[in-house]
Amino acid sequence: MSYQSFDTNGAFAENYKFLIGSILPRPIAVISTRNIDGSNNLAPFSFFTAISAKPMIVAFAPMIRSKDGSRKDTVINIEREKEFVVNFCTIQNFEKVNQASTELPYGEDEFDFAGLTPIDSLLVKAKRLAQSPVHFECKFRDMLCYGTTPGSGSLITGEVVKIHVDPSIMKEGKIQTQLFQPVGRGAGNDWFKTDSVFELERLMKTQIQK
Ligand SMILES: Cc1cc2nc3c(=O)[nH]c(=O)nc-3n(C[C@H](O)[C@H](O)[C@H](O)COP(=O)(O)O)c2cc1C
Repeated sequence: MSYQSFDTNGAFAENYKFLIGSILPRPIAVISTRNIDGSNNLAPFSFFTAISAKPMIVAFAPMIRSKDGSRKDTVINIEREKEFVVNFCTIQNFEKVNQASTELPYGEDEFDFAGLTPIDSLLVKAKRLAQSPVHFECKFRDMLCYGTTPGSGSLITGEVVKIHVDPSIMKEGKIQTQLFQPVGRGAGNDWFKTDSVFELERLMKTQIQK
């Protein structure tokens, strides 16, 4: 097979195209933070993953805004407040989550804007999203910044200090994919449903499976 090869030293949009076209389906973290005036900020991020089980650490990676080179409100809030909540995107809330990605002026409440409901957290000031069946309350751990120009990313990690799960999506203490119905992100305008789950036995019996 002959492959087409590309350099990565051109415009960021060229690289971005390959990131979102190759790393998929991507789970979507819907991050809620508190603005300086106490109002709520909400934004989805698909550059998102789990890092560690104990301590329980998750990471996501917001980029510098392409339109004006500014940092996203989520990043500004986390730097100041040192906490955030990870909510999840599902088949029930994806349209409103997409609306919450609108780049509003700082301080405008994206819960209000998208018709979503904030509820109090137990250990952090940032609100939880009532329309998400799972919430991770997080204390900020680290930020690694890879640049200051449009398209450059930062890696933000948080320690999950409290987990909330709607019991209706659990069986025997485990979240069931078919009940959770998370939605993922693809390239361009592509999104993914998770309604064609299949099972495959793990081969390494020595690995922890529970
Ligand atoms: C499904 C989805 C996933 C997104 N993922 C990312 C991402 O991984 N990184 C990023 O910088 N922006 C991402 N965005 C765009 C942000 O959500 C958008 O810039 C948002 O307005 C940022 O909000 P903030 O300024 O309140 O932080 C995504 C948008 C959508 C709809």
